[in-house]
Amino acid sequence: MILVSGGAGYIGSHTVLALAEAGYRVVVVDNLSLGRREAVRAGRLVEMDLRDKEGLFALVASFSIEGIIHFAGLSQVGQSMSDPQSYYENNLKGGLNLFGLAAEAGIPVVFSSSAAVYGLPRQVPIPEDHPLNPISPYGYTKMVLERVLEDYGRASGLGSVSLRYFNAAGADPEGRVGEAHDPETHLIPIVLQAALGQREKVAILGSDFPTPDGTCVRDYIHVQDLAKAHILALEFLREKGGCHCFNLGLGRGHSVREVVEVCRLVTGQRIRVQETDRREGDPPELVSDPARAGEALGWKPEITDLSEIVASAWAWHRKDKEGGN
Ligand code: UFG
Repeated sequence: MILVSGGAGYIGSHTVLALAEAGYRVVVVDNLSLGRREAVRAGRLVEMDLRDKEGLFALVASFSIEGIIHFAGLSQVGQSMSDPQSYYENNLKGGLNLFGLAAEAGIPVVFSSSAAVYGLPRQVPIPEDHPLNPISPYGYTKMVLERVLEDYGRASGLGSVSLRYFNAAGADPEGRVGEAHDPETHLIPIVLQAALGQREKVAILGSDFPTPDGTCVRDYIHVQDLAKAHILALEFLREKGGCHCFNLGLGRGHSVREVVEVCRLVTGQRIRVQETDRREGDPPELVSDPARAGEALGWKPEITDLSEIVASAWAWHRKDKEGGN
């Protein structure tokens, strides 16, 4: 049985489906503060906050847990700048409880980390040994939890893999789950909401970055490819153990303007944009060097075209608008 914390969230819900399809039994632990009950489409859902240490220990004692995938946590960079306390309180306390339990019971951990650990990159594409210098409380919590895993590994032999996602995007190709944050801050869902007429226009948050067209460049990776990497990481830990980190991205960037253009082509809709000021803390360019995940895990993204990524998100958003999700 695999324990998935935050399995009712965006990447978590896709990973739960991928685990079930690979034959794993799953128990999802989620406090449903951000996750959606209806997004848990496989396994069993236990509504619990990871800060409830006793509840968590009792839960693990009652199941035979062979692996933990830890997604739960607050995940908005901008919000973490204005409300750092919630981020340190939620992400660190929850992570410490779960990792403490994992170390004690010898259960390997796959941790949902982020490109936010790198801060403003000195080189692009970014390799895993690039210095870690997060510029937001959100990124800091990810870096600290990676470090906790490293220290617990040294002290007790806990096996762990931290997966540093670049920009997760897209939806389950069968349309069972997709990306829905409230409030939505991510580019692709915002552009698709504009295509659906749910927003008047899309703000381009800065057009004076030192990039080819002046807008930020990001490495968009399909959520289903991310989900598969978690399963490969579990299998890798079972065989090899140790403490590892891997970038997950395509190793190729697209600017904000390019994303809007691809969304116009995929949806066939007119999408209005307005150039506005930069958002605090947005690095100009974040593109991964994903070679290590390929070599160590045998991970090979299958959806490598931005229009395919957007098309899967578009199918899900349209269905959502019609009340089908
Ligand atoms: N953007 C806009 N308009 C919007 C929303 C976003 O122009 O309405 C731009 C942003 O400025 C950024 C790009 O679109 O340049 C992508 O923004 P997202 O909010 O979709 O994603 P981020 O790159 O900010 O965030 C991602 C991950 C985080 C991670 C962060 C690291 O979602 O988990 O990268 O900086 F922490």
